[in-house]
Amino acid sequence: MNLVLLGPPGSGKGTLAKLLSSQLNIPHISTGDILREEAESGTSLGKKVKPFMEKGELVPDQTILEVMKERIRSSECQKGFLLDGFPRNFHQALELDDMLKNSTKSIDMVIKFDVSDDCVLKRLGGRLICSGCGADFNRYTKPPQKDLMCDFCGSQLYQRPDDAQEVILNRLKVYKEQAMPVEKYYNNQGKLRRINAELDPSLILKNVLNILQSKKE
Ligand code: AP5
Repeated sequence: MNLVLLGPPGSGKGTLAKLLSSQLNIPHISTGDILREEAESGTSLGKKVKPFMEKGELVPDQTILEVMKERIRSSECQKGFLLDGFPRNFHQALELDDMLKNSTKSIDMVIKFDVSDDCVLKRLGGRLICSGCGADFNRYTKPPQKDLMCDFCGSQLYQRPDDAQEVILNRLKVYKEQAMPVEKYYNNQGKLRRINAELDPSLILKNVLNILQSKKE
């Protein structure tokens, strides 16, 4: 199954993708995670994308498309994939279809995460990441037992640079401008399903699995 998770920053795409990926046994491809790894390792790609990410702007299409072409062609994706953070504008959606056409595949379903701006601001403002094992915590929804210390490995927790308030606001603005045509594109193809993304992650997972099941029947 080839799935796309579409939704504003902080809507919970990454959180659900991890749960869904292990349930469906398909890889979770997060463009944000790929780009952050490159930026942290200081590769030439990382140096190129870092200034865009720090401001909450999209990295240039050509750059992300090169990354995704390689991923989608890889053996890892042959049995299906779960895309988190891609496509993010209309051009990327068209290019994705083009990439898949060459291997006679297509997108089966797009899950759209519905969440309010207030919820996004609270979730992202509270997000903390472990510098050691990468575990996700949240001051409001999933607090660590000890302040700024990982429950699993004891390393220091940090805030993602793009989770600063002014950058969150820009990410939301960029999302609203760029993602609406993507939503419309998949809706016109009958592939879009909306979910209430303000529920508990376990309930969201259950709802999404039900949606996927009803497609099969
Ligand atoms: P990316 O990493 O994709 O950022 P994003 O879309 O803004 O996604 P987030 O990771 O912030 O949010 P999420 O929806 O995954 O929520 P999460 O599950 O983490 O992209 C970063 C940057 O990379 C972009 O700004 C851009 O520069 C660049 N980029 C990436 N893709 C690109 C592309 N295709 N084209 C061009 N540029 C690209 O959850 C967030 C928090 O909420 C966590 O603390 C979590 O614990 C909590 N939470 C999640 N779900 C729930 C829930 N149900 N209930 C309570 N708390 C919850």
